[in-house]
Amino acid sequence: MKIPHSKILIIDFGSQYTQLIARKIRENSVYCEIYPVTSSIKKIKYFEPDAIILSGGPSSVYDNGAPFISKEVLEINVPFLGICYGMQVMAYLMGGTVKPANNREYGHSNLDILKKTKLFKGCKKLSPIWMSHGDIIVKAPDNFIVTSRTENCDTASFENREKKMYGLQFHPEVAHTVYGNKILNNFLFDIAGVEKDWKLDDFISGKVLDIAGLTAGKKAICALSGGVDSTVAAVIANKAVRKGLKCIFVDNGLLRDSEAKSVMKYYRENLDLNVKLVKASGLFLKALKGVVNPERKRKIIGRLFVQIFEEEAKKMNGVDFLVQGTLYPDVIESVKIFGSSSVIKSHHNVGGLPKKLGLKLIEPLRELFKDEVRIIGKNLGIPDEIIKRQPFPGPGLAIRIIGEINRKGLGILRKADAIVTEEIKNAGLYDKIWQSFPVLIPIKTVGVMGDERSYESLIALRAVSSSDGMTADFVELDYNILRTCAARIISEIKGINRVVYDITSKPPSTIEWE
Ligand code: XMP
Repeated sequence: MKIPHSKILIIDFGSQYTQLIARKIRENSVYCEIYPVTSSIKKIKYFEPDAIILSGGPSSVYDNGAPFISKEVLEINVPFLGICYGMQVMAYLMGGTVKPANNREYGHSNLDILKKTKLFKGCKKLSPIWMSHGDIIVKAPDNFIVTSRTENCDTASFENREKKMYGLQFHPEVAHTVYGNKILNNFLFDIAGVEKDWKLDDFISGKVLDIAGLTAGKKAICALSGGVDSTVAAVIANKAVRKGLKCIFVDNGLLRDSEAKSVMKYYRENLDLNVKLVKASGLFLKALKGVVNPERKRKIIGRLFVQIFEEEAKKMNGVDFLVQGTLYPDVIESVKIFGSSSVIKSHHNVGGLPKKLGLKLIEPLRELFKDEVRIIGKNLGIPDEIIKRQPFPGPGLAIRIIGEINRKGLGILRKADAIVTEEIKNAGLYDKIWQSFPVLIPIKTVGVMGDERSYESLIALRAVSSSDGMTADFVELDYNILRTCAARIISEIKGINRVVYDITSKPPSTIEWE
C-alpha cells in the first residue's frame, strides 16, 4: 500500500474530543493516527510523525495517576501542539507552573490575541473560543512567550518558536471556536509544513491491491448486515477477491419491514456481490421464546448468528479469510483514566468469529472514520439507501420490544417503524438525526376509540442526536411531526392506543431501551 507522505500523531490523554481532532485533520487531507498516552517512545518514533499533537484530557497534572508522557517525547525534533491538558503537560514538563484556577472555565469564552504569531495568522484580535479546564498555567516555561489571554486565563496560548512548540488552553477542534479550523490549518501547513496528500480514493486502490496480493487464489467470507460499514468493506474486498468472496446475509426475523428483500436486491443488482440469504427467522424466534431478559436476548441472538455463520463457512470448503467492516474508532485503544468499564450491554457484533473459525482477518476500513467510509461508499457507487442509513443494532427489533418477542409484536413494531421512518424522512430529518425509531411496550392502558373503550399496548418514540452513539441527546422534534406519527400509528396499527415520546439523554439512559 502507498504510505501517505505526511503523518500527524495525536497522543491521547483521554479527551472526549480526541477523535474530533483527528477527523478535522483528515478533512484537511492530512493523514493522522491516535496513540494512547501509554505508547512507548519507540512506537512513537517508528510512526515517523511530521508533527505531534497532545490532546486534552479530564485530569489535572497533579492528580494521582494522571496520564503523562516522558520528556523524551518532547525532545523528538518535530513541531508540537498541546491542546488544553496537553498544553499543561507541555508546560509542566518544560518547567512552567500549572495551578488550579480560581474560576474554572467551561464553555464559551473570548480570546484576546496579544502577539502576532504564525499560529493565529488570519484570526481577528478578539474571537469566540471554547474552553474546558480546571487548571491554568500561571507561569510559562522559560523561552516560551504568551500569545493570547481570556478574562479568566492569562495564558490562553503560548509558544517557543525556536523549538516549534505551541500550546492552546482552548479547543480549536470544537465548532464553537470560530477560528479553530484556521488555527489547526496554520499549525499543519505553516508551522509543520505538511502536504495535503491523504486521498481516500488512492487509499482504497492501495487497499484493493493489498487484499488481492494477500488473498491470491484463496477464499474469503463476509457477514453483511445491510449497514454501511459491512457493505463498503465487502465491496472493496469484492474488487480484490472477486469470485473467491462469498457474503452471508442472515434474516433473523428481527429486521425492519421488507428489509431483507430490499437489501438483497441492492447487493445483487447494484453492487454485484455474491450474497447468500440465510432465512433463519424460525430458528431465532424459537430460541427467543419466553425470553424477557435483555442480556439473554442479546446472547442468544449473538450465539445463533455465529452458529449459522460457522455452518455457512464450513460449506465453502477451505475458506481462509474473514472480511469485517471494523472502523478506526473500534481500533483506537481508548484511554480509560477514570471510571469503571462495566458491561452495560453485550453488543452483538461479529468480533468473536475469527477466533472461533480460525480465519485471518481482512479489515479494509480499519484506518477510517465513519464519515470517510460514507464518502468512499458514495465513490464506490453504493446507493444512499445504504450509505445514509441510521445505525440499526445487531439484535434488531428484539431489543425494541420490551419483554417477550412474538410474531404479533414484531408485526406491530415493523408497521410503526415504517411510519416513523417515513414521517422523519418527509420532514427532511432522516440524515440529520443519529437514530429515530419506535419501541413497543406491551403494557396496556385504557383509551377510547370511536365510542368504545380500548385497552391496548403502548408505543414509545425515540429520536436522538449523537456523534458516535456513546453519548446522545433526545431530539426536540416538532410537535407536528410527533402528532402525525402518533395519529398514524394509532389509526393504522391495530393493538396500539397510546404513543409517548422519550425525552431522556444518554447518559443516564441508553439509546436502545434494552
Ligand atoms: P445503546 O443502546 O448502548 O446504543 O446506547 C448505542 C448505539 O449502539 C447501537 N447498538 C448496537 N449495535 N449491536 C450493534 O451493532 C448491538 O448489540 C447494539 N446495541 C446497541 C444502538 O443502536 C446505538 O446506535
